[in-house]
Order: sequence, then C-alpha cells, then structure tokens
Amino acid sequence: MTTNTGAEPILEVKNLKTHFFLEKGVVQAVKGVSFTLQNKQTLGIVGESGCGKSVTARSIMRLIKSPPGQIVDGEIIFRRQKRRAETIDIARLDPKGPEMRSIRGGEISMIFQEPMTSLNPLYTVGHQIAEVVQLHQGLTQKESIKVAIDMLDKVRIADPHERVNQYPHQMSGGMRQRVMIALALSCNPSILVADEPTTALDVTIQAQIIDLMEQLQEDFGSSIIIITHNLGVVSQMSDYVAVMYFGRVVEYGTTVDIFRNPKHPYTEGLIKSIPVLGQRKEILVPITGMVPNATDEIKGCAFADRCPHVMPKCREHLPVDITIEGEHKVACWLYEDQLEKTSEVT
Ligand SMILES: Nc1ncnc2c1ncn2[C@@H]1O[C@H](COP(=O)(O)OP(=O)(O)OP(=O)(O)O)[C@@H](O)[C@H]1O
Ligand code: SF4
Ligand SMILES: [Mg+2]
Repeated sequence: MTTNTGAEPILEVKNLKTHFFLEKGVVQAVKGVSFTLQNKQTLGIVGESGCGKSVTARSIMRLIKSPPGQIVDGEIIFRRQKRRAETIDIARLDPKGPEMRSIRGGEISMIFQEPMTSLNPLYTVGHQIAEVVQLHQGLTQKESIKVAIDMLDKVRIADPHERVNQYPHQMSGGMRQRVMIALALSCNPSILVADEPTTALDVTIQAQIIDLMEQLQEDFGSSIIIITHNLGVVSQMSDYVAVMYFGRVVEYGTTVDIFRNPKHPYTEGLIKSIPVLGQRKEILVPITGMVPNATDEIKGCAFADRCPHVMPKCREHLPVDITIEGEHKVACWLYEDQLEKTSEVT
C-alpha cells in the first residue's frame, strides 16, 4: 500500500516478495508487501508471530541469507538523505557489494530481535561501536572510541568510560539493548529499523527504551520502522501503522486511522485484544483460530477461516487494496463498494 501525501517519503517498499526455497517446499514469507515511510516519521509494523515482519526488515537491510532465501520481486526505493536525496532501489543491489555495505549501518541501521545475535561476545562494546564508526566515518581509533563513549552516554548508560571496556556478557539485558541502540545510532542513520526492541525486557525497562528511542529520534532526526507485538508501543511511538497478516499488509494508515477507525476484521480483533487496565481478563476478545501454515498456498483471503464476516467471494479471490480515506487503505472485500474511490486516488 503506498501513500500519497505530497511529502517526500524516505522509503517506499513496493510489492516486495521474499521467499525461502526449502526441501519441504517454498515458504512465501513475504508475499507482496507495500508501505511508505515518510521522512522523520515512525512507522509501526504489527502482526502475529510468523507473518513476515522480520523477513521484511531483513529484506530492506539485504540480510536475507541466500540460499535458501531470495527477494523474488518488488522494489525498495530509498531516498538517500546523505546523498542529496538520490533514489536507489535497494532490492537491485548486491547484498555484499560496496553500495549496500555503505548503506547498511551508515544510512539504514537495525536493532535486532535478539541482542546477543548482533553483539559479538568476543569484543568489548566500545570496540564494536568504534569499529562501525571507523568503517563509516573514517575516524581514527582514538576518535572513534570517544564517539563510542559519547554514544553510551547518550543511551544513558552510567559510567560510560568504564562500560566501554566491558564485554556484552558483563551487562544486563536492558543495558545490552541500549548498547545495540547506541551501535545502531552511532553513524546517525537516516532510517532505524527496530525489530522487537523491547520484547525481552521487563515493563519498566521497556518504557525507558521507548522514551530513549523517541528522544534520540528528536535529536538525530531519523525515520524509524518499529516492529512489535505490543500495540501500546505502536500507539505511543508511531505516526503510521502497517498491519501484516500471512505475508501481506492488510491495513495501512495513520495511527489515528488504525486505532480509532480500524477496518480489517484482523485489525479490529487485534485492537479488541489489547488488555485494558482495570478491566477483567474475561472480556478480552482474542482472535480465534490459527494462522495458516507457512507453505500453504491460499487462493483467496488468508484470514477467511478466522473471519466473522467471511463471504463466498473471500475464499475465491485475493482481496485488493481499497482506499478508505486519504492514506487509509485496507485489503478486505467488505469495502468493495469503495473501490471507485481507490481508482480515483491511484
Ligand atoms: N531462514 C529462514 N528459512 C526458512 N523460513 C524462514 C526463514 N526465516 C523466516 N522464515 C519463515 O518466514 C515466515 C516469516 O517469518 P518472520 O521471522 O518474518 O516472522 P515474524 O513476523 O517476524 O514473527 P515473530 O513475531 O515471531 O518475530 C515464517 O513462516 C518463518 O518460519
Ligand atoms: S476479505 Fe473476507 S474473509 Fe478476508 S477479512 Fe475481509 S471479510 Fe474477512
Ligand atoms: Mg520477527
């Protein structure tokens, strides 16, 4: 789904398809995802486990291991703020080539779901941050250690002069997550992709990390893609939301559109299942049923078996993107009567 605000988007993902070619069959993890990230704004990506959020993020970073993975179609148009807003299609780049290496970490950086997978246990955190800074900014060893200390200070790690010489295992989970944020922001990236940056942390630390990311976005002017199961985090941080289901974006809009006027039955279910403080658990409405198997090929709407509004057409035809109003779009046959509006907009 693409937006049409007139503002220049920094990233446009168009019909992205990423598949894994396994012996048991092809996993179509990302089946044609489209969304827009506006400059200096935050886009939240939400959806159940296995719906393709991390694969989408790794595809943007060109970190999908091949084989078995491959981007088989689509475009990832990046407007390079550090290169006079030149546009480049990341999907066409050599993942290991110099252009992509300079974009990855220098212009787009990522905070991973598992902090320990991106921090090297054999090196001090200072060494790891300094290495990135040296690579992308051409600073000397001494200068880059200074930047590392400064970054640790910015992510509010106490005693940064001492901590800079510590190894990841000497730190708590929350601290490691801050180091990852420091590492990701050390080159002042134009885009920060944060994949579940708070899942492994307790609630108080989660809130601190979210505040920190918001503060750093103000200071550095980055655009952010935040991937999370936590709708509370999304409503707090995001300007826009993309709701994913089974490898596709099923609804896209501003945070107000999605939370105040959800249209897709899956989005409605997600929002109804948010626990509300002070309410008893029985009145939560979980979405019944299971996501289909990753290798299943589904002809129509992948949500049909779980949908309270399913119609015969839903099982036969894949829903198309339908514009509700402005940038708010939904892929659901319930809104077929609004298709005319969609063709007027596009
Ligand atoms: N390296 C891989 N090889 C094969 N299949 C993969 C690989 N990585 C991901 N997949 C499959 O792609 C689908 C999407 O996975 P992905 O990790 O993007 O889900 P997710 O939305 O990030 O879920 P979670 O919320 O649990 O992190 C899943 O079915 C997953 O099993
Ligand atoms: S297309 Fe049909 S099955 Fe799918 S979400 Fe809409 S109403 Fe439900
Ligand atoms: Mg994931």
